Amino acid sequence: MRVLVTGGAGYIGSHTVLQLQAAGHEVVIADDFSNSKPSIVKRLVALSDEPVTVYTVDLTDELATERVFAEEQIDAVIHFAGFKAVGESVAEPLAYYRNNLDTAFSVLNAMNQHGVRTFVFSSSATVYGENAVRERTEDMPTSATNPYGWTKVMIEQVLRDLAAADDSWRIAILRYFNPVGAHASGEIGEDPSGKPNNLMPFVAQVAVGRREKLSVFGDDYDTPDGTGVRDYIHVEDLAAGHLAALEKVTASDDALSVWNLGSGHASSVLEVVASFARASGRDVPYEVLPRRAGDLPAYWADPSKANAELGWRATRTIDDMCEDTWRWQSKNPNGFPDVDE
Ligand code: WQD
Repeated sequence: MRVLVTGGAGYIGSHTVLQLQAAGHEVVIADDFSNSKPSIVKRLVALSDEPVTVYTVDLTDELATERVFAEEQIDAVIHFAGFKAVGESVAEPLAYYRNNLDTAFSVLNAMNQHGVRTFVFSSSATVYGENAVRERTEDMPTSATNPYGWTKVMIEQVLRDLAAADDSWRIAILRYFNPVGAHASGEIGEDPSGKPNNLMPFVAQVAVGRREKLSVFGDDYDTPDGTGVRDYIHVEDLAAGHLAALEKVTASDDALSVWNLGSGHASSVLEVVASFARASGRDVPYEVLPRRAGDLPAYWADPSKANAELGWRATRTIDDMCEDTWRWQSKNPNGFPDVDE
């Protein structure tokens, strides 16, 4: 199939592009490069030895978005494009609602106009909000504790209403837990601009010497070692989950399906730090600070629905995730180059 990957120059998008091409699909990337560097495209082509069509486009622009569908014979869309920093969304809610909702509306309207009905949506475990049951299942109610999370909750609702109105849609909502890791080549990986919000890239930057020490946000949670517990999933397992979901909905009679993409394993902050120190052979100094506003103590996926219905399972361990992250970070201490090599 010819698959449009919005946000395909981003962290999860780029890893998914490679797996789509390896599976024989043709890929069109649409990205505004607001949170990724153009130099990644050259690396993708070098890794896949496949051509990739790239549109540099603001997907909140309906006309520009429709033009992509007019020019390309798109069979399916995997929609990654969107702002995704929780803290930033609290500071700039209007920018988050405008960007994340308008990009979704632009893409869905263009699909509707061009008779494209297969849509895989990048959602997040953050839609489970605060729930006393730490193991998340797809039937749990959704809510959010920040504008970023609300944009995911709202777009999921739009998709449910769309599927109810027109059952010719084939929609997969994929709820990611904590994506980490990098392609085994070490040529692509997570490259957050500025100070990383997330744990793994921050730990990697400490290990490589870009940051002095990690701030551990609280060690007084009701968890085995007091630090926050999450379900980390290797980005390559996550990408494979997208291909499995795309294949499933393409052959399905259901207008909409929801799947957790997580490992089902829970790891604490200190367990990640210890694993990274082993993987890198470097110390990862840290300082315990007060809890970060909005953080939950612990949650992880029950991935059994995706395992059963998609024939997909996360296979990589936290040590694999740290080893692959370290290979990427040590080969690219400053992330992707600003200009093509
Ligand atoms: C993980 C754990 C922190 C940084 C967020 C979004 C989620 C998804 C992934 C977009 C927590 C602790 C972190 C640090 C720390 N993003 N931590 N020091 O908050 O689980 O999820 O990112 O889709 O939607 O909510 O990820 O990596 O920020 O935090 O101690 O410098 O690491 O307290 O326990 P989080 P995270």
